[in-house]
Amino acid sequence: MTSESEYALFERFPELEKTIPTLGLGVYPSPVRPMPNVAKALGQGYTDKVWVKRDDLNNEDYGGNKIRKFELEYAPLKKRGYDTVATMGGIGTNQGVAAAIFCKQLGLECAVVLHPQPITEDVRNKLMLLHTTGCRMHRSGGAIRAIRKLGRICRPDNVYRHAPGGTSPIANVAFVNAGFELARQVEAGAMPFPDYVYVAAGTTGTFAGLLYGAYLAGLTEKGTKVVGVRVVPRVLGNRWIVRWQMRRTHAFLCSRSKQFEREVPKKFPLAQTDQRRGEN
Ligand SMILES: Cc1ncc(COP(=O)(O)O)c(C=O)c1O
Repeated sequence: MTSESEYALFERFPELEKTIPTLGLGVYPSPVRPMPNVAKALGQGYTDKVWVKRDDLNNEDYGGNKIRKFELEYAPLKKRGYDTVATMGGIGTNQGVAAAIFCKQLGLECAVVLHPQPITEDVRNKLMLLHTTGCRMHRSGGAIRAIRKLGRICRPDNVYRHAPGGTSPIANVAFVNAGFELARQVEAGAMPFPDYVYVAAGTTGTFAGLLYGAYLAGLTEKGTKVVGVRVVPRVLGNRWIVRWQMRRTHAFLCSRSKQFEREVPKKFPLAQTDQRRGEN
């Protein structure tokens, strides 16, 4: 971890610092900032009430939700004998771009299986960016075929299968940490108490981790609702999957620290919108 970085989760559960290695790809806490223009567009009642947590600033080369996930996911790879990472996504995949960039930085080979998606300006730019990293790009006819192709690529022992969207129990822990981080920023007065926290929900690891972190850190108890904004079809991102992701994350944390034994959430506030971005 870089010297400027702080893992709020490790402060609350110090045992985890010894059992969960990190690569220090990001700098935390990410700043929280007001969004006066969005507040203005929403109307008078919203003045000073809309804030953003700038995870895009976590890393100079590539911002967004992947940094937190990747710095935990990739930390043990070399020690476990992997020299290559393979992953998949649509042709405009953020997951693929981030994997290719960070593998290059870490001295790992990277292969990305790409399936078709509607072409937009953003998708085109991501594809160009992926190309410039020099990663191995494999085309496939559709998402199901891409899963099969990824399976074949990952057969050798040296190739690590990085799940689509980078969602896994260890990666979700990174957003449990983000939940604690946010709670600490609120406590410190860096931003007002949030009634709602909105986050994109694709493979749902970001949402599940953040929701679970906000729950453990006491934000949801005080009234914060963490809202996942679904950006994929319902079959891929739904309440059942979010619950499953939270349970896997909890089980992982229990395996790394006895302090988690009594921390199982029985009930949690969960709201999802039906909005779709249509391009991811
Ligand atoms: C920038 C960004 N934030 C958040 C998400 C949602 O992440 P997750 O796949 O963990 O639900 C995505 C992907 O959909 C993303 O690209």
